[in-house]
Amino acid sequence: MIIREIQELQAVHFDLLLLADPDKHLVENYVKRSVCFEAIFNGTEAGILALLPTRPETLEIVNIAVAKTYQGQGIGEKLLQFALSYAKNSQYKTVEIGTGSTSFGQLYLYQKCGFRMTSIDRDFFLRHYEEEIVENKLILKDMVRLSIDV
Ligand code: ACO
Ligand code: ACO
Repeated sequence: MIIREIQELQAVHFDLLLLADPDKHLVENYVKRSVCFEAIFNGTEAGILALLPTRPETLEIVNIAVAKTYQGQGIGEKLLQFALSYAKNSQYKTVEIGTGSTSFGQLYLYQKCGFRMTSIDRDFFLRHYEEEIVENKLILKDMVRLSIDV
């Protein structure tokens, strides 16, 4: 598998980005300001990663997704490790990531990779998303923010 920077986002990339974030307008807005990478596995598009510089010395993983057929094979973990190395090599001090309070699998994965919880943004998904999001049989309301120093 190779991970490489995307020069120009295509429809295939948006299909992946929308797996992690269902709001196309929000996605379009933040990818313009992000550096994006793709994971290519067996010549096909397997995963995506969008990194957005936020505060000084802080990089946020604003989107990470693996194509459904490739999930559960370690690609997501490799993309996270790539993000941490990229941040360190680019002189960032902290990497942040936010996810739904109902995203139990993602919360496991991020903590497995060393992220620690920093705060809860209550009602984030009610405020920013027009469509209700249901995950693990729960209505998603709150955003959990995690970070790691690199
Ligand atoms: N549910 C349960 N466990 C999970 C999940 C999940 N959704 N995702 C990962 N894991 C676990 C795996 O079982 C594995 O466990 P192990 O170490 O005990 O074997 C470990 O985490 C590593 O998993 P990977 O195979 O590396 O993860 P994968 O390649 O499937 O990628 C990802 C994880 C990116 C979350 C993928 O499932 C996905 O694209 N999901 C849909 C989009 C999404 O939710 N993206 C994140 C939104 S938040 C954001 O983008 C900032
Ligand atoms: N992991 C995953 N799912 C769980 C867990 C768990 N540990 N506990 C409950 N659930 C889910 C069940 O699958 C069920 O889901 P469903 O509504 O989709 O069917 C739902 O939650 C309700 O489950 P119950 O059967 O009512 O839960 P149970 O009788 O097992 O009691 C409890 C839950 C008290 C957490 C029990 O598992 C337990 O005693 N665990 C060990 C002690 C513990 O962790 N206590 C809480 C510590 S925090 C505190 O005490 C303040």
